[in-house]
Amino acid sequence: MSNKTWIVTGTSTGFGKELAALLAQQEDVNLVATARHTDQLDYLDQYDHGQILKHNLDVTNSDEIKDTINNALEKFGTIDVLVNNAGLGYFATFEESDLKEAKYMFDVNVWGLAEMTQAVLPTMRKQRFGAIVNFSSIGGLASFPIWSFYHGTKYAVEGISESIAKETADLGIKMMIVEPSGFRTDWAGRSSKKTMPTHDDYQKFAKDITTNAAGAHHEPGDPKAAAKIIYDEVTDNFADLPLRLPLGKFSVDTAIEKYENTLKEFKKSRDLSISADQPEK
Ligand SMILES: NC(=O)c1ccc[n+]([C@@H]2O[C@H](COP(=O)([O-])OP(=O)(O)OC[C@H]3O[C@@H](n4cnc5c(N)ncnc54)[C@H](OP(=O)(O)O)[C@@H]3O)[C@@H](O)[C@H]2O)c1
Repeated sequence: MSNKTWIVTGTSTGFGKELAALLAQQEDVNLVATARHTDQLDYLDQYDHGQILKHNLDVTNSDEIKDTINNALEKFGTIDVLVNNAGLGYFATFEESDLKEAKYMFDVNVWGLAEMTQAVLPTMRKQRFGAIVNFSSIGGLASFPIWSFYHGTKYAVEGISESIAKETADLGIKMMIVEPSGFRTDWAGRSSKKTMPTHDDYQKFAKDITTNAAGAHHEPGDPKAAAKIIYDEVTDNFADLPLRLPLGKFSVDTAIEKYENTLKEFKKSRDLSISADQPEK
């Protein structure tokens, strides 16, 4: 069987690094490991037997996206799995959020992911084979204070991904949306900007912001375990790949609670909802 080619964004640290390190050790995997600064990818050198392409890629840069895909195809001939992992956070109350920060986060978390996906889909359609793994978050399913715009990005990832899954299901292309809770990466630290509240009314959230930031590298989630689960799902469970994969106890428990409560609310308001339609003839 020929090698499968994986492209992973944001492989300098965190989930992306753990996944790239795992993929680099597989004999039947070609790896396109991308990062804004490829000098952060030296950890891959020990595994490279000619099956690894390190590529500089800022996912907000359209030219770099095109170059990455073209060079990956030139070196390996196929693109089988795209992992849209690169992402940022932003902790602030909604009212006091700096919209420049929020918009940049959308550029990375949503538009970068969308442009990468558009760039690989022609190849996957032609192959009639492919898997797209999109990083969302439990924050793409349930909402909390100080994360409004981060939620906005991840709910967008959920909606876009679910729709892609329906458009490409009969083309041999699978979608898996990964929804971690807190994992021990750089996300809550250097990858998340913060704006502290200034209004008295929002001082009660100052602690949430400092606690979230200070919690970086103390989270319960193990990114190495997450990388193994993602790899195993895509390789061993391709036919039955789950559309949604919550990772971590807090994630799955929160998702279950949110969906159960939402289901109750929808059932309660069903008759009222239907009464908004034109009367049936
Ligand atoms: N850790 C968690 O608790 C958690 C929970 C739920 C979801 N997630 C999601 O998991 C994904 C990975 O984050 P992580 O937890 O592994 O955090 P991380 O260690 O901070 O890694 C983030 C990665 O994204 C890259 N990145 C940021 N902006 C980029 C851009 N414009 N172009 C290309 N790459 C860019 C970073 O590269 P640089 O080194 O160049 O900055 C880094 O490689 C994100 O989508 C995040 O939202 C994380």
